[in-house]
Amino acid sequence: LLMIVTIDGVAASGKSSVSSGVAQALGVPYVSSGLLYRAATLLGLEADLDLRGAPDLLNLLGAHPVRLEPLAGGNRVWQGERDLTDDLHSTRVDRGVSVVAALPEVREWVDAQLRALPEPFVAEGRDMGTNVFPHAPHKFYLTASARIRAERRARERPEDVPAIEADLQRRDELDTVQSAPAPDALVIDTGPLDLQGVIDTILTRLH
Ligand code: ADP
Ligand code: CDP
Repeated sequence: LLMIVTIDGVAASGKSSVSSGVAQALGVPYVSSGLLYRAATLLGLEADLDLRGAPDLLNLLGAHPVRLEPLAGGNRVWQGERDLTDDLHSTRVDRGVSVVAALPEVREWVDAQLRALPEPFVAEGRDMGTNVFPHAPHKFYLTASARIRAERRARERPEDVPAIEADLQRRDELDTVQSAPAPDALVIDTGPLDLQGVIDTILTRLH
């Protein structure tokens, strides 16, 4: 059946949970591109770099390479022997990541790693169906209102729903450029569905 399935969408729309479920049903890996943007951000913050400055960040990433491990149950990101994964979803990284993702050099760094992966796989992010894998035969785009997404994410973050909603809306705005759905993507409003409902909607289209 498969080559590449792309699942893009706005922040906290369910991309990684849905991709993991779809990938496990298909018996293929999934790839979470956002984790690489988050890793670049974390390392930049830890090194106290100005996140708007690509050369310093690229030097850092070149000197200490980062590797994405696309496990079906949940992706992990490594820098040498250090597993960065558990540090990638802090509010600090959430707030810095869009600035880092706006740097063309960082986007090239991420895209090169994704394009080197062996098919088949499910790829999730913002621009998997538009920019990185435009020839993918199966494309999906997840949405939900900012309130619903904030309520879901509040179960994974210390902040309250209004603060998370404001952060999500700010990030959606900063990410607008790379977040347009591919013209050939099926747009799924996940608001009225549960996780399994979204996964089943996608699996039905693949058969
Ligand atoms: P993203 O990768 O887009 O940031 P996540 O996969 O982290 O999104 O999902 C955010 C949260 O929303 C997760 O805890 C997920 O289980 C939850 N969730 C609840 N209902 C749904 C649904 N109908 N569709 C997708 N995710 C949902
Ligand atoms: O789902 P959520 O937005 O919380 O996180 P993510 O998918 O890990 O993405 C984190 C950030 O990385 C986004 O806010 C974008 O700035 C950036 N990103 C991107 O620009 N392009 C991608 N393909 C994936 C993520």
